[in-house]
Amino acid sequence: MKTLEIKKVVTDQTWQADHLNEHIRVTGWVRSIRHSKAGISFIAINDGSSLLSVQVVVPEALDNYCEIEKITTGVSITASGLLVESMGKGQDVEIQAKKVKILGAIEEPENYPIAKKRHTFEYLRGLPHLRIRTNTFGAIARIRSSVANKIHNYFFENGFHWVSTPIITSSDCEGAGELFKVSTLDYAQKKSTTKTDYADDFFARETFLTVSGQLNAEAYCLAMSKVYTFGPTFRAENSNTSRHLAEFWMVEPEIAFADLEDNATLAESLLKAIIGHVLEYCQEDLNFFTRQIDKSLEEKLMRVFDKKFEKISYTHAIEILKKSKRNFQFPVEWGLDLQSEHERFLTEDYAKGPLIVSDYPKDIKAFYMRLNDDGKTVSAMDVLVPGIGEIIGGSQREERLHVLDSRIQNQKILSELSWYRDLRKYGTVPHAGFGLGFERLISYITGMENIRDCIPFPRTPGNAKI
Ligand code: 4AD
Ligand code: MG
Repeated sequence: MKTLEIKKVVTDQTWQADHLNEHIRVTGWVRSIRHSKAGISFIAINDGSSLLSVQVVVPEALDNYCEIEKITTGVSITASGLLVESMGKGQDVEIQAKKVKILGAIEEPENYPIAKKRHTFEYLRGLPHLRIRTNTFGAIARIRSSVANKIHNYFFENGFHWVSTPIITSSDCEGAGELFKVSTLDYAQKKSTTKTDYADDFFARETFLTVSGQLNAEAYCLAMSKVYTFGPTFRAENSNTSRHLAEFWMVEPEIAFADLEDNATLAESLLKAIIGHVLEYCQEDLNFFTRQIDKSLEEKLMRVFDKKFEKISYTHAIEILKKSKRNFQFPVEWGLDLQSEHERFLTEDYAKGPLIVSDYPKDIKAFYMRLNDDGKTVSAMDVLVPGIGEIIGGSQREERLHVLDSRIQNQKILSELSWYRDLRKYGTVPHAGFGLGFERLISYITGMENIRDCIPFPRTPGNAKI
């Protein structure tokens, strides 16, 4: 007999009607067990395929009932029996067990770290290998997986090619110096006073974990026109916030023969497609987050479709913030970067939905962004969403070699980026792209406030144990 996915058993009504009173088998982990006075036990089994568990009704007549009576939350079992309509509330069907086999018991049930029905997210953060067995983290994992799948499909359907950009790199794409070093040199042996000779290192040069796949994606873009990269990125920024991870995933499309307007159109279309997908295909998990985390979540996500994303320039954003009379912690001044509190005011109070802010001062943005005719701003854009702030950062790229060179200036970087300059020397074209932070996206979609809960095994300052 084939083992069935619990999702199919509990949610597929057509399948249920066709298989009622048939013998079926499921496997999974016990979510709860209760014993009635009438000598019957009710076990809820979950296999991760759905938020829902299947109820297995176990009569005391079963051979190994004395063993079953001792089952606790977390035990893995296989159960087979008749699929019947359920008399109880909360489920359409249940399994009248003929056989229940314990596969893995829980050692010392009183010490099982997630035995209680409810734990704080903070407590569960210390147990990333076990928190996935809870409803919340199961739902996040399913949404994460489904959204990743949608992203690949969206690009595939729109003529993009997926490029696997390298994780080990020698360039600091963002120029922010937030790099993790990659080296096989024995730093324990090295005297702090001696200068490191990278000629002896594995790659015979200084290398790092990538902060963004963009520069390499640009090379592919300038031959294949529409590409994207989707992979892990690393930043050694010492920010202990609910929005920053040291290791996070980024979706980075890059389009040729395109300007900032095309870039913004793509960003809006992608976000709408993802949210539309979640509303249609992740209903059960989304309902759960709406019930448990944020009562207005679904309504907020639906509203994303109501209108075109609002767009303002950075200069206009500064005026709005100044006029707001809000007591911001950080100063608001033309030339200074927008802080999270400013971004949230703009998207939550001003736009009341997603907002695209463009044309930032050149001095606060990366070297690759295209200089505007005013000589002061660059053709950059950030997409801000309520509850998060910046979810996307992107720009039109500087395709003019002499302007690019004037933006880099540092001779060492200029020579290291000679390959990137080649892209401007040989058949340059206007092009643009952006980076969508995958965990910030998951946080937005689920309403989970802390980004550490939106990735399976979070890496943050001082935390990389599991
Ligand atoms: O704005 P950022 O730094 O842009 C880039 O890296 C560009 N090279 C992307 C491109 O144009 N291809 O980062 C892009 C997005 C941010 O908007 C944010 O959502 C996310 O990546 N992000 C982080 N997410 C989690 N933890 C961090 N430390 C993050 N830093 C950026
Ligand atoms: Mg940014």
